[in-house]
Amino acid sequence: MRKTAVLTGTFDPLTASELACAARLRRQGYGLIIFAAAEEGVLPKEKREELIWQAIRPFDRYAIGSAEGFTEVFHPEGEEDEAAIRKGDFYLAAPGIRGTLVREGLYAEQILSTWCKPARAAHARGVAKLAKELAECHGLDGQQAWLAGMLHDVTKNRDDAFNRHILEIYDPDKLTYDAKVWHSFTAPVWLKQHLGLSDPDILEAIYCHTLGDGRTRLDQILYIADKCDETRPWPTEKEIALSRKDLQAGFRLVKQEEEEDLRKRGVK
Ligand SMILES: [Fe+2]
Ligand SMILES: [Fe+2]
Repeated sequence: MRKTAVLTGTFDPLTASELACAARLRRQGYGLIIFAAAEEGVLPKEKREELIWQAIRPFDRYAIGSAEGFTEVFHPEGEEDEAAIRKGDFYLAAPGIRGTLVREGLYAEQILSTWCKPARAAHARGVAKLAKELAECHGLDGQQAWLAGMLHDVTKNRDDAFNRHILEIYDPDKLTYDAKVWHSFTAPVWLKQHLGLSDPDILEAIYCHTLGDGRTRLDQILYIADKCDETRPWPTEKEIALSRKDLQAGFRLVKQEEEEDLRKRGVK
């Protein structure tokens, strides 16, 4: 029988360092490494095991199972990294699962609660819900629109110094805009760096969500959803109904109302 080592942990999700620990055990002569995930985690056990499976698929002699009956059981130190991943440091996750984490928005809720105040997080959930609905209504990818909604304001609750610092490096021309707008330019940078989010449609929709100067249907959907989500204290039925029927017309109406409002408040 092959010498077997069992790695136990929450694996919520599996980290690069936990995967490296398995590689070390292989080099030490273990012929089979079993990953045994704990019962409880933020993600259901089946989902965590699916992610482990994705990460170990390219390697020989790794398996998923339970620690029962084995004596050589190891607990790799991974909890700190796992907690950091759940807050958005996806680069610490095992290679092979990072794309899934971001595409499926697996920790989007935890990222929101970490980086946004409760009211901002509630707004983002509302935007995600409406963006998904509008996208599906127009035959577009609902998951992509949902993710754009969840993440569009991720840098909005950071202070001006944080956003200024990013713009100084990546987009200095945008420093001339009002600081309230900065988050739409800094969120894509943050999302690329932390989550490895590379979907150009989502990044562009977020980049354009405050000024409403995007050209794609997803850009327009995010703009409408941002102004009309269920947490907004003004009536939005008319705008939503029109956007369901005719996206362009809905977008024009919402943008026109927004510009009027800004003029009234003396912002424009
Ligand atoms: Fe925003
Ligand atoms: Fe927003």
